[in-house]
Amino acid sequence: MPQSWYQNAVFYELYVRAFYDSNRDGHGDLRGVMQKLDYLQFLGVDCIWLLPIYPSPLKDDGYDIADFYGVHPDYGTLEDFRELVEAAHARGIRVITDLVLNHTSDQHPWFQAARADRNSPYRDYYVWSDTDQRYKDARIIFLDVEKSNWTWDEQAGQYYWHRFYSSQPDLNYDNPAVQEEMLNVARFWLELGVDGFRVDAPPYLFEREGTNCENLPETHAFLKTFRAFVEQINPEALLLSEANQWPEDVRAYFGDGDEMHMNFHFPLMPRLFQALAQKDRTPIVEILARTPDLPPGCQWATFLRCHDELTLEMVSPEVRQFMWDFYAPEPRMRLNLGIRRRLAPLLDNDRGKIELLYSLLFTLPGAPTLYYGDEIGMGDNIWLPDRDGLRTPMQWDDSPHAGFTAADVTPYAPVIDDPVFGYRQVNVARQMADPHSLLHTIRDMIRIRKAHPAFGEPGLTWLPAPHEVAAFLREGADETLISLNNLSDRPQRVQLPSGRFASLFDGSLIDGAYTLPPYGHWWGKVVA
Ligand code: NOJ
Repeated sequence: MPQSWYQNAVFYELYVRAFYDSNRDGHGDLRGVMQKLDYLQFLGVDCIWLLPIYPSPLKDDGYDIADFYGVHPDYGTLEDFRELVEAAHARGIRVITDLVLNHTSDQHPWFQAARADRNSPYRDYYVWSDTDQRYKDARIIFLDVEKSNWTWDEQAGQYYWHRFYSSQPDLNYDNPAVQEEMLNVARFWLELGVDGFRVDAPPYLFEREGTNCENLPETHAFLKTFRAFVEQINPEALLLSEANQWPEDVRAYFGDGDEMHMNFHFPLMPRLFQALAQKDRTPIVEILARTPDLPPGCQWATFLRCHDELTLEMVSPEVRQFMWDFYAPEPRMRLNLGIRRRLAPLLDNDRGKIELLYSLLFTLPGAPTLYYGDEIGMGDNIWLPDRDGLRTPMQWDDSPHAGFTAADVTPYAPVIDDPVFGYRQVNVARQMADPHSLLHTIRDMIRIRKAHPAFGEPGLTWLPAPHEVAAFLREGADETLISLNNLSDRPQRVQLPSGRFASLFDGSLIDGAYTLPPYGHWWGKVVA
């Protein structure tokens, strides 16, 4: 079966506010993204995923939507959006947008009407209760802030249900009108030209007593309806879902190939970091062994970091503690059940370790997703509130505000300005000019990854190797690829399978055995 566009695509997650400010108001905007499309084309990504761009009071950076049919004025207009999509398409880059199905902002007119009047048709758009004792088995996700999934609303005289911040009331999917509203929202954006959606928080759409209110059959039934609807409008559109669940529970989100096309592999992500910390591939081997096969036409989205904390929900309490101790020694680095740090600081800004994790990201099964700024090794600012420290302005050059906005403007958040990760040291212009920079290396990796569609195929074969090494074959219709990755700070010798292998980077040939330098990686293909 031929691969669909997303199965071997490289995704780039982009926070519009942080990318480039085209109109000198301190906030990145859609026209700013448009002006930087050449950069994204240079990097070689296939699809950009935009964090929510809707009107919003921004209590959760736009994941609290006040109007599903508009663009936040900081970002521009619907016309700007349409132009951005056209300009991206002209460069062969697709665009998907975040779609938040589960909840709205408490400022959304639906919620305003619902809380104001018990008899409003919008009352039943949300989940109300006279007590806060229902659905006790549902966990609290934003543990550091919320104490309950119920919040008392004075005006409504009832409690309302929310899985995230109390400013994000959950929609009531038992109400067919809500389902229809969200289908209409999808239609609107598809007709504007988007190539699909990153579907936010799908596990929580329905609530049922006596369950943890996640992954319910009713939720899957709606998502199948949603998929059929989307497919009817654009058969090529992608649904990339964010079910942060164990592999066996995520499997249901793919249905029989009739639900989500992709889902992030949340359990794999922390294990890449764990394997590196423990110099042992075992966590990766175990989680991939526990990862079920997908129906044809589906794919995992893999990632190292994203706009949220590095979540440790999908590891045991012991591993979580280990990861906190290892990667978040300073309490301020921890948030909820995770770690609020970017890739380069997590890895001590060690080029070998950074490249090694990218090597795993690009050669393991799944479609890789990069987080803006990580391709140049940007730093973070743990002292900003919530996850803001991971969302600072993109560092374009060494001019004031990193070239993100004009010199006389105050950016929405301080640019990173420390001696190691500050914009004078870490910026795109500098790395563009240096052929040995991280940016050039990542660009090369993307180019090679895309030139070998076998990387987009499912499955892998582990090769015998010391436990410090992740060595595996990836088989495609036309070629067999090999990826060798040394998770340790010592050289490691790997016995190769019989045959000869040509480096995908420079064509050099190896056979017999190969010694990887500390944190070294080697990608090749079988030539004989
Ligand atoms: C998941 C998003 O990634 C996160 O940033 C957001 O806060 C929650 N969903 C709620 O929408």
